[in-house]
Amino acid sequence: MITQRTDDPEKAARWLRAGDCVAFPTETVYGLGANALNADAVAKIFEAKDRPADNPLIVHVASVEQVERVAQNLSSAAWALLRAFSPGPLTCVVHKRDDVPNVTTAGLDTVGVRIPSLPVAQSFLTACAVPVAAPSANRSGRPSPTTWEAVRYDLDGRIRGILIGPQSPTGIESTVVDTTVDPPVVLRPGAVSVEEARRVVPELAMADSVEQQKRSPGTRHRHYAPDATVEIASADEATPGVDAAYLGLNRPTRSGSWGHIVLASNIPDYAARLYAALRKFDAEEMDRIVCEPVEPTGLGRALMDRVRRAAGHASGETPNDGAAGAGEAL
Ligand code: TXA
Ligand code: MG
Repeated sequence: MITQRTDDPEKAARWLRAGDCVAFPTETVYGLGANALNADAVAKIFEAKDRPADNPLIVHVASVEQVERVAQNLSSAAWALLRAFSPGPLTCVVHKRDDVPNVTTAGLDTVGVRIPSLPVAQSFLTACAVPVAAPSANRSGRPSPTTWEAVRYDLDGRIRGILIGPQSPTGIESTVVDTTVDPPVVLRPGAVSVEEARRVVPELAMADSVEQQKRSPGTRHRHYAPDATVEIASADEATPGVDAAYLGLNRPTRSGSWGHIVLASNIPDYAARLYAALRKFDAEEMDRIVCEPVEPTGLGRALMDRVRRAAGHASGETPNDGAAGAGEAL
């Protein structure tokens, strides 16, 4: 298959409506979309990504009013979270409607819904006029793509098209909250911080890693990993090397040369640059990538979750690798 490219959301929407997979930009990362109500189209997403079939997809719609096209019986907490953070980087897990096929939700009776805020994503979803199932547009297990070039690198020849847009400004995926339980539980920390979400739903809980793996199948699988070995070390402890790259806020202090140093100016900048840096260091054939840890609060919590997963930890929440599923190289 030849993968076509366009910067016209209408054209990309026509490919999707014809039953094909189309990658599109969002504020978090690029997604790989298909008509969420068409089981054959959704199956193509799993094939293109080599995604395990037990990992449910997030369904994207253009506005809060459209959530009930795929969902029913939303709790008051679900509505409150959607109203507060949509459009934006929040995914609410809610009860699905019967006409959402099993392949979309990996057989679950719930569905994750999200309303992206990036203007080109809004134009695309409006033009699609159907709910769009979309995981991140990377080969399974690889860092999520934050540029259309990263999508092309992973999926060229495997999908119908790529809608070209800007680099994803947030750079870290949405926060996934299960609102079908009381109190609601954060299954995946993301770009909406837990602190912000608790201002709307104060009783919001954090999934511990075992519970998280049970409820959010995707978090069981190895994720976000470049080919190089990822280490986590402070600016004072990072060991230099000509085949090593460093990413952090503070300049590493030990003497010796580095293959590449990327310094971010603050935590949002670090988050925005993380995945692109991991991919760039791989392209430069670095053996090691050293990431400086940050305080795991606010956006820092999601950033550290991704860094720990890239470093091969089964759970982003705890540095303990004992949990089931560790090292599954998907
Ligand atoms: O920012 C994002 O969320 C991006 C953009 C494209 O929207 N999408 C994304 O999708 O990161 P994906 O498939 O890479 O991650 C979705 C996560 C997985 O961990 C999956 O298991 C979880 O959300 N998830 C989806 N539906 C679920 C459900 N019904 N119940 C529990 N977890 C669910
Ligand atoms: Mg993903």
